[in-house]
This record gives sequence, structure tokens and C-alpha cells, in this order.
Amino acid sequence: MRILSGIQPTGDKHLGNYFGAIMRWAEQQDEAECFYTIVDLHALTFPQEPAELRRSTLDLAALLVASGIDPDRSALFVQSHVPEHPRLAWILECMTPYGDLRRMPQYREKSERQASFGVGLLTYPVLQAADILLYQPDTVPVGEDQRQHLELARDVAQRFNNRYGETFTVPVATVPQTAAKVMDLQDPSSRMSTSADSDAGVIRLLDPPDALRKKIRSAVTDSGREVVRSPDKAGVSNLIELFSAATGEPESEIESRYADTGYGPFKADLAEAVVELVTPIQTRFAELRADETELGEILAKGAMKAHAVAAQTLARAHENLGLVAPTQP
Ligand code: TRP
Repeated sequence: MRILSGIQPTGDKHLGNYFGAIMRWAEQQDEAECFYTIVDLHALTFPQEPAELRRSTLDLAALLVASGIDPDRSALFVQSHVPEHPRLAWILECMTPYGDLRRMPQYREKSERQASFGVGLLTYPVLQAADILLYQPDTVPVGEDQRQHLELARDVAQRFNNRYGETFTVPVATVPQTAAKVMDLQDPSSRMSTSADSDAGVIRLLDPPDALRKKIRSAVTDSGREVVRSPDKAGVSNLIELFSAATGEPESEIESRYADTGYGPFKADLAEAVVELVTPIQTRFAELRADETELGEILAKGAMKAHAVAAQTLARAHENLGLVAPTQP
């Protein structure tokens, strides 16, 4: 069983990213051969400050390793280090209907907010399809928002296989049904997001413990004082789910423990549970980040493993397309 997934290097990662993706990526290493890529080329669909892109790419690499992605067991690599990605993307672009891309929900939403934008925003899902198909994965763990992109990758793979012969595994998207949906602490009706208007409701994995405690202390709660999940108590419900995600404890047990305490002690214990979760990650992150040479070597090893597989797939695609292979000197 083989898995591939990708994550954008932009934006400091938060607990929503952790419980929705990063933690699962680490767990899945026990069950599958995993390819995890930091998609820096996808980040270029919007203008990036070079120094900031460089920093956030290395930060994310260190954060993923610190969170348990084991570079010895998995291939952890930066997308731009493996040149097959844009090369296959071009080929797939030539067989992707323009209309399909124009109808992609993310494209429509993002392009509407922009006075002008590069065509990469339109072809983004094709590069994503290339990221996936190069590794012949059985499944691709993604969030709900990526379903259409996965559908497109499947369509492209099938179209290619039908026209040129079996070349790509047609991958299945796995959207975790049970993942805690972590909502913004200040606005529990929207998901915790890197692009939130205010930072106060977003817990970053690298927030210093005191900042993190303060954010939890000032999280919006609802009227009343009961620690229970209920549709009209979105704030408290979110905190209970977060507590459960951070400790692995069932939500009902948390509710009964804090049945008589009110919000104060509940929030204080939640803050300590989150601090306990992120502290070892932060410590390991600092160590990894202190040595850019070692971090670079980790990524070079990942790129080598990825390249070995990607080059094979691309060669097969070229051959099936009738592109003449260069003679080896
Ligand atoms: N588009 C994905 C996101 O924004 C990131 C991504 C790029 C990806 N390539 C991928 C995810 C390949 C899974 C597989 O979350």
C-alpha cells in the first residue's frame, strides 16, 4: 500500500493542520509506504516574498520531522527538488479540458478575489495531479476541500491510460471522516485557518506556551457555565473536541470531569494539555532548525527516494506517448 500527500509551505501551521493532516501522516507510516511533499511550486500561484518562502519551506520541513514524519521510513521531500513534477504536469495539461479547470471550485473562489492572476492558478490542480500520479499511490489522504482536485487527478489518469495504455494507478482519495474539525477560537463558526482575520483564534504549533495559554483563556465561550457539547454552544463544543483531540480522551469523559467546575478550570487544563502536546514538537523543531545543513541533507535524501520513483513513471509516460528517449551517451 502506498500513500502520497502534499502540503503548502505557506502560513504557519496550526492545530487544525496538525489534527487534520500532520498527525495522520505520521500515523500512516506504520501502515504504508509514504511519500510526503512540501509543494513549494504550488505556493507560487500567488506572489511570494523569496526570503519568506525559503524560511517557511525549511520551517515546514523541520516541523514535519518534529511531528513524527520519519525521513528514514518515508520520503519527505520538497516538490521543486524533483523536476519530474512540472514535466509531467505539462503533459497532463495537454489532455485536461480547459472547461474542467475553469469549473474547479477553488479556482473560482480564488480567482474572483483577484483583479489579475497568473495562469498557474488555473492549472494548479494539474500540477497536483502530477504530484500524485508520479508515485502511483493507492490512496491520497486529503481534506474535504481537495475532493474535486482528486477527482480531476483520477479523470486525467483514466484518460491517459485509456488513450495511451496502462501508465498510472488511479488513486483513491481518503478524506478522514473522524478528524476533529478544529474551529477558530474567536469565531467557532469558521474553521481554524492560516488566513484568519485575527490571530487570536488560531493556535499555531510554534506558538510559545504563554501565547497559547492566553489564546485558550480568551477563547469565546457561550452563555452559561456548563462544559457540554451542544449545537447552541459552538465555542465550548469546539474546545471539548480540541481537548479530546489533544489527549485522546473521549469527549464524554471530559464533559463529566468538568460538569461542575465551570469554564475556568476546564480552559486551564485544556491549555496545559495543548502545551504538553506541542512542547516536544517545539523542542525537536528548534534542534532541527538550528542545523540547516542537516535539514538540507534530510530533504536531499527524500528527494532522491522520490526521484527514483518519479523518473520511472515519467519515462513510462514518455514512452507510451511516443516521445523519443534520449540516447544515453
Ligand atoms: N492542494 C493541496 C492543498 O492545498 C496541496 C497539494 C498539492 C496536495 N499537491 C498535492 C495534496 C498532492 C495531496 C496530494 O491542500
